[in-house]
Amino acid sequence: MESSWLEMRWARPFYLAFVFCLALALLQAVKLYLRRQRLLRDLRAFPAPPTHWFHGHQKIFQDDKMEKLEEIVEKYPRAFPCWIGPFEAFFFIYDPDYAKTFLSRTDPKSQYLYKFIVPCLGKGLLNLEGPKWFQHRRLLTPGFHFNILKTYVEVIAHSVNTMLDKWEKLCSTQNTSVEVYEHIALLALDTIMKCAFSQDSNCQINSTHDRYVKATLGIGRIIRNRVYSFWYHHDMIFKLSPKGHHFQKLIQEVHQYTEKMIQDRKKSFKAGEQQNNTQKRKYKDFLDIVLSAQAENGESFSDTDIRSEVNTFMAAGHETTASSLSWLLYCLARNPEHQDRCREEIKGILGDGSSITWDHLGEMSYTTMCIKETLRLIPAIPSISRKLSKPLTFPDGCSLPAGITVTLSIWGLHRNPAVWKNPKVFDPLRFSPENCDQRHPHAYLPFSAGPRNCIGQQFAMAELKVAIALILLRFKLTADPTRPHLFSSHIILKPKNGLYLNLKKLPEC
Ligand code: HEM
Repeated sequence: MESSWLEMRWARPFYLAFVFCLALALLQAVKLYLRRQRLLRDLRAFPAPPTHWFHGHQKIFQDDKMEKLEEIVEKYPRAFPCWIGPFEAFFFIYDPDYAKTFLSRTDPKSQYLYKFIVPCLGKGLLNLEGPKWFQHRRLLTPGFHFNILKTYVEVIAHSVNTMLDKWEKLCSTQNTSVEVYEHIALLALDTIMKCAFSQDSNCQINSTHDRYVKATLGIGRIIRNRVYSFWYHHDMIFKLSPKGHHFQKLIQEVHQYTEKMIQDRKKSFKAGEQQNNTQKRKYKDFLDIVLSAQAENGESFSDTDIRSEVNTFMAAGHETTASSLSWLLYCLARNPEHQDRCREEIKGILGDGSSITWDHLGEMSYTTMCIKETLRLIPAIPSISRKLSKPLTFPDGCSLPAGITVTLSIWGLHRNPAVWKNPKVFDPLRFSPENCDQRHPHAYLPFSAGPRNCIGQQFAMAELKVAIALILLRFKLTADPTRPHLFSSHIILKPKNGLYLNLKKLPEC
């Protein structure tokens, strides 16, 4: 008798909870169904490759087969709606006129991939929006003036020579296959640490020694792993997982490090020692620049803002240049005639390379064309996305409603046969002044364009020129046919299992 009373007592709340959960699930299902119907209606006007009702077009991007996208670009030369599963679709564009319209607006960035990096960077230029983004951009732009960049050339050259000394120990005058990406990633990290906050971490010699470097490399690995593992996309699941815990610890370490550096520098700033320090270094680093911006703008640029910007520049400034330099070596290894021509040009300008200055970089016209052609063929950032805040109409009259996520595929644009003749061929002469004049200004966008273009592009170009000049003076590069390259294509286009090249030490000039 008593037990049935108890049963009755508990059965009712259980029943109500069950009905409540069922109602919630139904509501969610209805919402998803309506979302799918809305997307189908909004994108109906645009032809698309056949799609699976559940996977959508995800198979195109699986296994990082970038070439599959090229087939679609050939068939649908302006754009196509790309379904990521049954309830999410991005509108992919790769036509210069479409790109121009898209980039002239200020729609917010899509959070699909950025949400993975916000916890470690905070809110910096990359992911800020509206007036706060505008204010930061205005304050930080002077930090990339060429008078500042000029002084970085010597710093970059020193880091490149450290890498080349390591390569000399690894290789003789015989061809030796070396995985270069890891070396180049450390070079890029070393350079940006010196230019951003004058820290000599010695990471190229001992990458496991410096806690900050170790944590930064660890964070990069976990983010990549998270992007690839869809079950970690859910914040709560990731936070509760052992990887999520480890991630939090690494982030704390990085934040403590940057915080201490900022506070130390602020103290010396206040004590008036800064001028002496800067004079000793012979260059103003990024931290000097943001602290001066704060001194001039008081309240509007907080310590948290400074920390986010320092972290943002560290992140945005090292993997992108590391990938671009690796792909540049790869392209020159595969095209020895262009490699020889660059080496000849560089020898003519630099002699034995014992000194390299900003003015030398301006003289490297053929080498610059090879860098530009590499950034066309393999853009380090293959795509950028925005969520439309208001309807968008393209020049041909096609339009999209607010709320749709538009992805500009820089890879698709740079390999679009309607824009580029023989797009798969490495041909630096595409970037001769005459050929550039004839091209649509939005046909080539490795650094994007418009108000949110890459603030670090001149820095990146300087780093690429210094590095390739010093590398080619000391080494001959050939492709390693036993180790074909693969792309790893989330956020930054990197070599998937490293990049193996044959290096041969050249006799001293
Ligand atoms: C070859 C190397 C690089 C490439 C290909 C590259 C490419 C890009 C692209 C395509 C964007 C636009 C992203 C978007 O709209 O979502 C961007 C933005 C940005 N880049 Fe770079 N980048 C490179 C190097 C650098 C370096 C060296 C730095 C800093 C030192 C840097 C800092 C930034 C920042 C802060 C933004 C955000 C700008 C804003 O929204 O106002 N980049 N970059």
